[in-house]
This record gives sequence, C-alpha cells and structure tokens, in this order.
Amino acid sequence: MPAAELTEPALVAWGQEFGRAIRYPRLVALTGDLGAGKTTLVRAIARAQGALEPVTSQSYGIVREYVSPRGHVFHLDLYRLAGPQDLPQIGWEDILRLKALVLVEWPERALGALPPDHDTLHLEHVPGRPDVRRLTW
Ligand SMILES: Nc1ncnc2c1ncn2[C@@H]1O[C@H](COP(=O)(O)OP(=O)(O)OP(=O)(O)O)[C@@H](O)[C@H]1O
Ligand SMILES: [Mg+2]
Repeated sequence: MPAAELTEPALVAWGQEFGRAIRYPRLVALTGDLGAGKTTLVRAIARAQGALEPVTSQSYGIVREYVSPRGHVFHLDLYRLAGPQDLPQIGWEDILRLKALVLVEWPERALGALPPDHDTLHLEHVPGRPDVRRLTW
C-alpha cells in the first residue's frame, strides 16, 4: 500500500486531489487514533466536492450532511456509537441508498455494515514529529 508522511497543508492538498477524482457512490473509511487528522482530511475531501457548510448536523453531531453540485456528501463520526446495532438510529441504510459520498471516521464501530468495496485511508502520528502524519491509502 502506498504511504506518505505529510504536514497538515500537504495532507489537505492530498485530500483535495483525492476528492476531485472521486466517483459517486463511494464510501471512504478513515482510520487512526484520536488527533491523527481524520477530520482534517474529511474536510479537505468535502471541500473538493464544492461542499462548504453542512446543511444538517443531527443525531448528536454524528451525522453531517453537505449538498454539493456533485451530489450528497455525508461526514459520519461514529466515535460515540456503541456498535453496529446503533446504525439504524442514524439512518445508515437511507444514507447508503442515496448514492452519496460517505466519509466515515471510526469505521470500526460499523464493522460488518460497511459496503465491501469501500476505500480505507489510514492516518497515524509519527514519533518525534508532531507536525507530520503518516497516511496510508
Ligand atoms: N500533518 C498533519 N495532518 C493533520 N493534522 C495535523 C498535522 N499536524 C498537526 N495536526 C493537528 O492535529 C490535529 C488533527 O485533528 P483532527 O480533528 O483532524 O483529528 P481526528 O483524527 O479527526 O481526531 P478524532 O479521532 O478526535 O476525531 C489538528 O489539531 C491539526 O492541526
Ligand atoms: Mg475527528
């Protein structure tokens, strides 16, 4: 798998390029520890869709929906989900049916419910280099 060590501006630029090349429907799982840069990368990918501000932010901040010229964009942060049994509460099936771009932080919480053809982007801290993250895709 390819990997790169990126500063924050470089990670944002990578996300924007990745975002521009994306075809819908697509589910992208973002894995990595607290503070690894998942939300930073999600925002860059969403911005590349022309999605500026979320139109809705319900379900206690777990689901953010953007409408972009390219279609529906969802940012799901599943950190506070106990497990896949809670997915119906956030409208998981409806979201997948929309043929959207779905960007999922903490996908471990939805294990078994992710479509088999999803992409994974993994981020990790680099020891001794607080300004850099290692991205694997
Ligand atoms: N190279 C880098 N890439 C991304 N973020 C970086 C980098 N260097 C420093 N940071 C900082 O690390 C933090 C990353 O936070 P972010 O919210 O994106 O992480 P997260 O993986 O979404 O965390 P959480 O699991 O808590 O949701 C930000 O404060 C950001 O400024
Ligand atoms: Mg986050």
